[in-house]
Amino acid sequence: MRCSSCLVAAGLLLCALATSAQSAPKPAPLVAATPPMGWNSWNFFAEKVTEQDIKNAADQMVATGMRDAGYVYINIDDTWEGERDAQGILHTNSKFPDMKGLADYVHARGLKLGIYSGPGAKTCAGYTASLGHEEQDAKMYADWGVDYLKYDLCSFREDVMYPKALHDRPEQARLMIAAYAKMGKAIQSTGKPIVYSLCQYGWDSVWEWGASVGGNLWRTTGDVEANWPSIAMILNAQAGLADYSGPGHWNDPDMLEVGNGDLSLDENRAHFSMWAMLAAPLLAGNDLPHMKPEIKAILTNKEVIALDQDPLGKQARRVYVDGEVELWTRPLANGDTALAVLNHGPERVATHPFHLPLASLGLHAGPAKNLWTGAMIALAENMPVEIARHDVLLVRIPAK
Ligand code: GAL
Repeated sequence: MRCSSCLVAAGLLLCALATSAQSAPKPAPLVAATPPMGWNSWNFFAEKVTEQDIKNAADQMVATGMRDAGYVYINIDDTWEGERDAQGILHTNSKFPDMKGLADYVHARGLKLGIYSGPGAKTCAGYTASLGHEEQDAKMYADWGVDYLKYDLCSFREDVMYPKALHDRPEQARLMIAAYAKMGKAIQSTGKPIVYSLCQYGWDSVWEWGASVGGNLWRTTGDVEANWPSIAMILNAQAGLADYSGPGHWNDPDMLEVGNGDLSLDENRAHFSMWAMLAAPLLAGNDLPHMKPEIKAILTNKEVIALDQDPLGKQARRVYVDGEVELWTRPLANGDTALAVLNHGPERVATHPFHLPLASLGLHAGPAKNLWTGAMIALAENMPVEIARHDVLLVRIPAK
């Protein structure tokens, strides 16, 4: 009797435990657990972008294999906005006649849709932004099925920061942070897993507070341009920011210029390599319907993408500088280490041979995989390395 009541009691306890385990709410999946990947209209189309360009981009993401390589967001940047009506509802302009239909089109291809606004009255291109309509806009994005919002400071300075606190920098920063927090809260209130991208060019050390306002990524600098000095300058600004980046909240050195402007093939490869080392969001910005095979090969290199998307989410640190050669390393989830040797200089490094220091950087000699050629190479202490100008040696060193 005692024994069976014991069993009953134990059974009830187990049952109660099982029920509470079943009814415990599952934690929501982390938004942007790895750096967001996709394509954004600005770098190629700028103000000219239309609904048809976005549809073409979605089609090309599928046709080129970019979607299957991990690029899922199709992000409309500035210039989709029309005017608000008497109820404050923001309408699209004639370039984007049916945003809900466009979201459906993008979703039907296994992709996600991103949109753009800002905390001021106007966007950077002078279109209508969200000041005073944050909740209303966030709800509308969610109703359309938007999955990503880039929120760009633009006229908030002139509309709010300067009128309220012209000579008070700390107060200006407080106002700006509050504005980003307001939209962060509005997005969260929709209950949809919308990626929140802060764009205010790295002001007021955004990496220190970006995550606290709900940001999943934040620009760390001004706009990237499709030339090597711009890419090198932005890369340089990322040194020292590694501790602020991680799953769900990433430093954003701006979108990719791979395939744009006059970047050489080496420069395109180095740009992509270094963004992957930085665990940067990978938002292509090129002309997808006319993408050259060699550009596609860069953007879809599986092992370089895996580096960017490594689940440990540790951004690379610059660990060594010798003239125009820089070494960056990052630890990876499986114990491997990624090493990038970058030649910033105008000449091939062989003209002033560079010798790879391993032991002093905690790296070991032995086999490593060159992520661009796919070949195994033998790393040796102080081995001479020859790298073309504005190119990179990118290797994955297996754990010892
Ligand atoms: C800039 C932003 C660019 C682009 C542009 C649109 O402020 O940094 O990435 O979004 O505005 O007007």
